[in-house]
Amino acid sequence: MTLSPARTPEALAGGLTARRPTEDDFARIQDGLTHWWGGLGGEAGAQQRRLLVPRLFLQHFTSTSFVVDDADGRLVAFLVGFLSQDRPDEAYIHFVGVAPEHKRAGLGSALYERFFALARAAGRTRVRCITGPANLASVAYHTRMGFRLEDGDTDVDGVPVKSHYDGEGLPRVCFVRDL
Ligand SMILES: CC(C)(COP(=O)(O)OP(=O)(O)OC[C@H]1O[C@@H](n2cnc3c(N)ncnc32)[C@H](O)[C@@H]1OP(=O)(O)O)[C@@H](O)C(=O)NCCC(=O)NCCS
Repeated sequence: MTLSPARTPEALAGGLTARRPTEDDFARIQDGLTHWWGGLGGEAGAQQRRLLVPRLFLQHFTSTSFVVDDADGRLVAFLVGFLSQDRPDEAYIHFVGVAPEHKRAGLGSALYERFFALARAAGRTRVRCITGPANLASVAYHTRMGFRLEDGDTDVDGVPVKSHYDGEGLPRVCFVRDL
């Protein structure tokens, strides 16, 4: 399957438009990473999130990622994902964010469904992603989206957590879903 970064923009409800990102979206996504997480982790948390989505994702992974603009051209959601290069059955959602005023309106689900369809069409049978254990909204959201929580080596408020998954003091909750 050929994935084109220039796939036609798609109209969504409420005057929103989903499209593939370009490198020009980098600064706006960085801004979302700063402001859309409700201050989770303070400035250190915001900096960690910004560093997790460096420019390279807007250079090399645009054909498997999505952004959503409102009618005035403001960015209101993004999903950064890719097809695993080394695991031919798998796809991976690296980061997703929805602007606060658009949360709980089905936008996150709409982007996930598009990514699932894209991954299936590319022959992938499994999708993975991770989140921080402090992000309970993300745990609830991924559970609702049909992801299973992988076993951890510890338990935080009933959530299985892999300690030091991304390095010393960086625990993660790991999700997997069949496609
Ligand atoms: C998590 C996030 C992507 C969800 O996007 P969204 O567009 O708000 O989600 P949807 O409207 O598609 O929600 C689908 C379902 O997920 C569950 N869900 C979503 N957000 C939830 C929350 N904050 N608490 C509990 N359940 C939640 C609900 O069951 C919801 O269905 P419902 O609204 O009918 O009850 C969004 O809230 C967000 O950007 N959060 C900050 C960034 C983040 O945590 N990203 C993920 C980790 S990288």
